[in-house]
Amino acid sequence: MDDKKIAGERAAELIRDGMIVGLGTGSTVYYTMKRISQMLENGLKIKAVSTSSSTTTIAQKLGIPLVDLNDVGKIDITIDGADEVDSSLNGIKGGGGALLYEKLVAISSEKVIWVVDSSKIVNQLGEFPLPVEVIPFAYNHILTKFKDMNLNPRLRINNGDFFITDSQHYIIDLYINKIEYPYELEKTLNSIPGVVEHGLFINIVDTVIIGKDNSLEIVN
Ligand code: 5RP
Repeated sequence: MDDKKIAGERAAELIRDGMIVGLGTGSTVYYTMKRISQMLENGLKIKAVSTSSSTTTIAQKLGIPLVDLNDVGKIDITIDGADEVDSSLNGIKGGGGALLYEKLVAISSEKVIWVVDSSKIVNQLGEFPLPVEVIPFAYNHILTKFKDMNLNPRLRINNGDFFITDSQHYIIDLYINKIEYPYELEKTLNSIPGVVEHGLFINIVDTVIIGKDNSLEIVN
């Protein structure tokens, strides 16, 4: 069986009646959503907050009831994928470009669960390019700043055009390869005007469910 499927489905078992559930984005969380839709057919009652237009489309097709983040006090549990995870349960997200809403939903959640296959587990973050969401008005200046900082930036292009996020920003991917000091990099990126958000998720996740060789590993 697919390791993403195993991890995604397992996470759905953490959902209880009456919960507000944050729904992440990506191919692993897709399996969580499919399992949730079966559970709804069996009588589960939940409401979900979506992290992207693609997740909204899937949730609507699967009959998962959605609410706006602003209409809920707190989210009980958020289940999301990740692009890289290290042994401290810090990670990189945003491969699909949904990092801003994913982070906003995660930090509004009591519990954050990541579902990944074992290919996402790394000793050091950074081989996966770090996505940074930026204001289009100043993207070229931010790009130059990142070049000057030796962060190897590349503007994300999709089908020959600038990739545009759900909140109408651009993405600059940083090809850093080895992020030696994730906490410092986080602070630096947070301090640059025009940076809306970045895909470094530090001290945000509680549990990682890893699908590996047709079985599961759960790390808290
Ligand atoms: C989207 C993300 C995804 O969660 C991440 O890319 C993992 O996706 P997948 O489960 O398809 O590997 O951060 O912005």
